[in-house]
Amino acid sequence: MSSSIVIVGAQWGDEGKGKVVDILAEYSDIVVRFQGGNNAGHTIVVGDDKFILHLIPSGILHYGKKCVIGNGVVIDPAVLIEEIETLKKRGYAVNESNLLISKESHLIMPYHKVYDVARERLKGESKIGTTGRGIGPSYEDKVARCGIRCGDLLRKNIFFEKLNENLIEKNRFLKDVLHEDGFDAQKIYKQYMAYAERIGGHITNTSIFLDNAIKQSKKILFEGAQGTLLDVDHGTYPFVTSSNTVAAQAAIGSGIGPTKLGMVIGVSKAYTTRVGEGPFPTELKNEEGDRLREKGGEFGATTGRPRRCGWFDAVALTHAVRVNGLESLIITKLDILDGLDEIKICTGYDYNGRILEDFPSDISVLQDLKPVYETLPGWEQDTQRAACFEDLPLNAREYIKRLELLAGIDVIMISVGAKRKDAIMVKNPFET
Ligand code: GDP
Ligand code: IMO
Ligand code: MG
Repeated sequence: MSSSIVIVGAQWGDEGKGKVVDILAEYSDIVVRFQGGNNAGHTIVVGDDKFILHLIPSGILHYGKKCVIGNGVVIDPAVLIEEIETLKKRGYAVNESNLLISKESHLIMPYHKVYDVARERLKGESKIGTTGRGIGPSYEDKVARCGIRCGDLLRKNIFFEKLNENLIEKNRFLKDVLHEDGFDAQKIYKQYMAYAERIGGHITNTSIFLDNAIKQSKKILFEGAQGTLLDVDHGTYPFVTSSNTVAAQAAIGSGIGPTKLGMVIGVSKAYTTRVGEGPFPTELKNEEGDRLREKGGEFGATTGRPRRCGWFDAVALTHAVRVNGLESLIITKLDILDGLDEIKICTGYDYNGRILEDFPSDISVLQDLKPVYETLPGWEQDTQRAACFEDLPLNAREYIKRLELLAGIDVIMISVGAKRKDAIMVKNPFET
């Protein structure tokens, strides 16, 4: 029986991690975000109510669960406060006992957001297509050892000192290189001290909290953000986000050792999507892609941008299985494939006549290859009504079995609609 489970996206993000974590949260005690920031948009639909969470873990909709924002996350306090307030207005409890924020998580500062947007503008055609939320620049400062952390909000003098130190360099860069206005230290100080008043009571040593929870055999769910192919090391670099999104980061980003992580589960859509720029071998720039976008409602939960759509990429999946150490798979949005005559799965890449079976890390190769497809028959019936695997149409079951075979791991949950109830749990990972 697994008592700590890591959920990561196996594609380019938006695989339905929020929905899956919401379902599994029922069986866990604690849900932890361990990387990323409010570039994430995790959608949960309960009855007719839709929630999009950017920073707060997707366990918050369950009474009595603890939610932790770990040290690996970068936090825009204004966004966090708004999210807390919105949840409260909608009748959900968010307080200092059920939402804990790591002292070591880094803050997103106003200049990070300006850097992000201005840099993208300067890049022109070669832009990454970031969410513009200041995620990359905040992580840069963390690694450059000049970042300001959540814990600094509790130490006014130190916060002010660090801010002033940062602004010396930042204001010059903003004006001279990015041609933007500089920032006034006093103004930011006042703004952030007001944030400190609001969220200060949530800020604590979450590594110790999680360690104690592990010692008490609590069940912990680690909620990944983005997806494997957006990982800064293992993704389609440089068209990636600025954090490690793979499962091992769950340990680093929450302050526990890798020996404390249990089962690792990947989430994939039954097809593929990507937001922003960068290579996407199975992208369909035609009516088939438009159909997936329309039927799947493929518009970004954070920025509203249309998502690029394409067929399932099993080469990318085997890469995700390897770099995460995936043990099980969850397939979402199977219902979006209902009614198709044929469904394609990419099983290899043709690169100048040579068939590649492994996902290349070289961007120039990725941009030049052609997917090799196998074609499976589709199904007419509506999968959304299926309550168990056997209820699915035969061809839908064959499709899932084929994905299992290509991935070399079992599919333990199949999601067939956006709502919490629309899911087939083949195996409950907390009980196996
Ligand atoms: P995340 O970032 O991985 O949490 O995924 P997003 O929330 O950004 O995107 C997933 C979208 O698909 C959301 O709008 C979900 O409500 C929706 N969704 C999740 N699972 C299913 C499913 O099985 N079927 C359908 N039709 N929609 C789903
Ligand atoms: P969830 O958690 C999909 C993408 C952006 C851009 C690249 C870098 O909802 O799956 P960033 O702002 O992170 O520097 O942008 O990463 N991106 C996502 N795409 N889902 C996400 O999160 C994403 N978070 C970032 O579109 O291409
Ligand atoms: Mg999303």
